[in-house]
Amino acid sequence: MLSGKQILLIVAGGIAAYKTLDLARRLRERGACVRCVLTEAGARFVTPLSMAALTGEKVHQDLFSLTDEIEMGHIRLAREADLILVAPATADLMARMGAGMANDLATAVLLATRQPILLAPSMNTAMWEHPATQANVKLLKERGCRSVGPQAGDLACGESGAGRLADVQDILAAIETHFSSGPLSGLRALVTSGPTHEPIDPVRYIANRSSGKQGHAIAKALADAGAEVTLVSGPVSLADPSGLRTLHVETAEQMLAACLGALPADIAICAAAVADWKVKAPAKDKMKKAKGAAPPALELATNPDILAILSTLKKNRPRLVIGFAAETQKVSAFAQEKLKAKGADWILANDVSEGTGTFGGDSNQVHLITHGGVESWPRMSKAEIGAELAGRIAQALKPKASKGKKA
Ligand code: PMT
Repeated sequence: MLSGKQILLIVAGGIAAYKTLDLARRLRERGACVRCVLTEAGARFVTPLSMAALTGEKVHQDLFSLTDEIEMGHIRLAREADLILVAPATADLMARMGAGMANDLATAVLLATRQPILLAPSMNTAMWEHPATQANVKLLKERGCRSVGPQAGDLACGESGAGRLADVQDILAAIETHFSSGPLSGLRALVTSGPTHEPIDPVRYIANRSSGKQGHAIAKALADAGAEVTLVSGPVSLADPSGLRTLHVETAEQMLAACLGALPADIAICAAAVADWKVKAPAKDKMKKAKGAAPPALELATNPDILAILSTLKKNRPRLVIGFAAETQKVSAFAQEKLKAKGADWILANDVSEGTGTFGGDSNQVHLITHGGVESWPRMSKAEIGAELAGRIAQALKPKASKGKKA
């Protein structure tokens, strides 16, 4: 599956670097050609000799090596890779990437490349959880880097928590997804998920019961089918799915801006439970409860309707715009009205009445509403709904390719 793919493996200085020897071997077993850049710190954990033996290629270490620059300069390394894999992506290397530094061969290549970058972070839990690292990871993802891991578990430093390099198998899976020739390969998808939080004051907000499970499952299914996915997520407690880009937002306004910024896309799926209303003028300071005073009256304003805006874009309208309808009565009838009112191509209608478990549960029962009619799907896991939807999208947008796949 990776036959002929040129992978540039950048190994930074972390204890997990030793695992990249196995990774390089597995990549070669799958037909990939692996070139390696070892940072100075990386070379303290992995010797150039062992990496050269496993990759069958010269290992690159020095930005200022005249021989290297003549034989294989940093620009060629940056250009010729089909994918750049940074493993372990240390806190230091990601900070330097975020700042746009180019003070060694690894960062010079990363700054000079236009090729896709996959980060496999690994570090001590406190370093991973530090706001500086989290901000750098967020920034790099916003710039289009994908990531796999880190995993939680026992770490070499004796602590236990998030920060362990993703398993070699998971890194290989993320690389294979990247090169996937799945039914949606070559297509870009945008998925919204989770609730939005609309501030009342710095402490309080208006929200709803969405967990993000349905939207995240759809995003993952599309990525597994080969699409390049941007997931725009409201505040949820789920981990970012691997193999795709996740943008985090809080309010409907921010979600709209992130969606418009992620265009062009072939597919847009609005699974988020966006608050219809926001507080017109949120208080700057915490609202105080004065003894005997009446509760404050909140003046509400209407939020932008992201689904309707995406559906009616004059420029860059995705070829297929799919919304959801969350109803507690007349589910299909109200959803059909929404399909027309918002200008979407399809709507997935679900019953969110108390006791259905639609909000927060692991399964769902949806009705696919198109301009041709209503099709009720059986109750399935949210992951299965994502996979079924990915198949339907492939049939709609790539009819020949998906027929070929099934045969
Ligand atoms: O997150 P889970 O716990 O897994 O639950 C899944 C879910 C119930 C949230 C999901 O399946 C679902 O139904 N999502 C849509 C929720 C919703 O807001 O439905 P609605 O009928 O109010 O809105 C209709 C459509 O317009 C939706 O696609 C919604 O994303 C979109 N919308 C609504 C308001 C708004 N301001 N902007 C929008 O884009």
